[in-house]
Amino acid sequence: IPGPENSKWTDLVYIYYWLNGQVPFYIHQLHEKYGPIVRTGPSRVDICDISAVKEIHRTNSRFLKSDWYRKLVPGGFENMFTTGDPHFHSARRRLLASPISDSSLTRMEPIILSRVQMAIDRIAEEMGKRGVADVFKWWLFMATDVIGELSFGESFRMLEAGEKTQYSLDLEHISSLQPIRTTFPLLVNLGRYLPLPVFKKTADAGKRLGSYSFKSIERYKQMIAENPNDPKPTLFTKIFDSEKSGLTLEQIRSEAQGYIVAGSDTTAVTLTYLIYAVSRDTRVRDKLVEELASLPEPVADRNLRDLPYLNQVINETLRLYTAVPFGLPRSTPSEGANFDGYFVPGGTTVSTQSYSMHRDPAIFPDPNDFKPERWEDVTKDMKDASLPFGGGSRVCIGLHLARIELRLGAALFFRKFPYAHPSTKEGMSEEDMVMKSFFLMAPQGHRCLIEA
Ligand code: HEM
Repeated sequence: IPGPENSKWTDLVYIYYWLNGQVPFYIHQLHEKYGPIVRTGPSRVDICDISAVKEIHRTNSRFLKSDWYRKLVPGGFENMFTTGDPHFHSARRRLLASPISDSSLTRMEPIILSRVQMAIDRIAEEMGKRGVADVFKWWLFMATDVIGELSFGESFRMLEAGEKTQYSLDLEHISSLQPIRTTFPLLVNLGRYLPLPVFKKTADAGKRLGSYSFKSIERYKQMIAENPNDPKPTLFTKIFDSEKSGLTLEQIRSEAQGYIVAGSDTTAVTLTYLIYAVSRDTRVRDKLVEELASLPEPVADRNLRDLPYLNQVINETLRLYTAVPFGLPRSTPSEGANFDGYFVPGGTTVSTQSYSMHRDPAIFPDPNDFKPERWEDVTKDMKDASLPFGGGSRVCIGLHLARIELRLGAALFFRKFPYAHPSTKEGMSEEDMVMKSFFLMAPQGHRCLIEA
């Protein structure tokens, strides 16, 4: 399998890029040099090819998530996101899918809308006081508050406080250790017994997160007991009856925490790049603003679903600034597999990174340009090559929720700030928006300052 010579013998070069948040960009360069299939380590291959995507990410695929996913989350717990066991996964997904389906979510729209509206108000307030607003910060607060409220029955109130809470700081700290956890799990496990401040900080953060979500779940259980006929609906209300669902409180807690991790940064990063990409191109911005001007008041998601340009803008953001540009690693089944005329032995980790799939010039001409109009006529190849939410049985369960947040966020923002443009105040530059990706992607400056 083609690839750099070192990748035959060692993972060290790959690990270097992983620890520096550069894996998708490094692998993309390898594809440009070696073609659609590249060896990236002694037992690791990345493939940029639609037929491989279809084979690996299909329903009931035999390419399973490996233990790597459990190392990604603190405590290594098994939930719907981390599990590699197809039986465990399908049982869990069956239980959790219906409340987060597109039709069920319409009941949750008032909660989502009120949080998006609050984010817009806070952005306007910050622009008034500071002259610029950091939209990345506000979208992160919005997305975390929304998923917190939909999971636990009450929001984290980050939008109200205007600053990160202890819970989100703990989450951030734990996530920042993802590269270390997946690369040196032994060190992290031993770390619990070493009297070093960094390990103590991590252990304390882990304990606080566990106890916070446990208390939230307990509180919600209490709310149901007090008002059994009409409890505030959450994504977990139906499975609280452990006799019917078979899930313990601990298992519900683990799924809720999974939703919060998977559903906050992803949505916030996508909305941030959407605002950035649109507001830096006056042609795109003005066209979107014009389309949004036709909306009746008050803005409702049902009026946004069919707006052609808004949805093209969202699809183009998900293509160019996909929040998970990293290949979704899977383990090859024991009998091995053939890709592009090469045999890949069983046990090899294969990935199909969206960063490269979304930049195939044969499918997306001028791939590095932000051109929403390319989604006017969607070809079959464009659909098949698009992986912002993964695919097959493991496709993102939160994609409908994410799309509602993206539609409402973009629409309300550009209705309120039709002249928004990226700021150069406070030293803000394009450098801040350069993508960095461990598993998830984020702008390396961790901010996006916009003026209006
Ligand atoms: C723009 C926003 C989002 C993006 C780009 C995104 C992307 C993804 C991707 C690529 C996967 C597949 C991971 C893999 O196969 O390794 C995934 C899975 C998942 N996502 Fe999302 N996601 C987003 C929003 C959300 C939200 C709002 C939630 C909240 C519920 C969520 C919850 C999950 C869960 C639980 C899984 C695992 C599903 C399974 O394995 O069955 N995501 N997401």
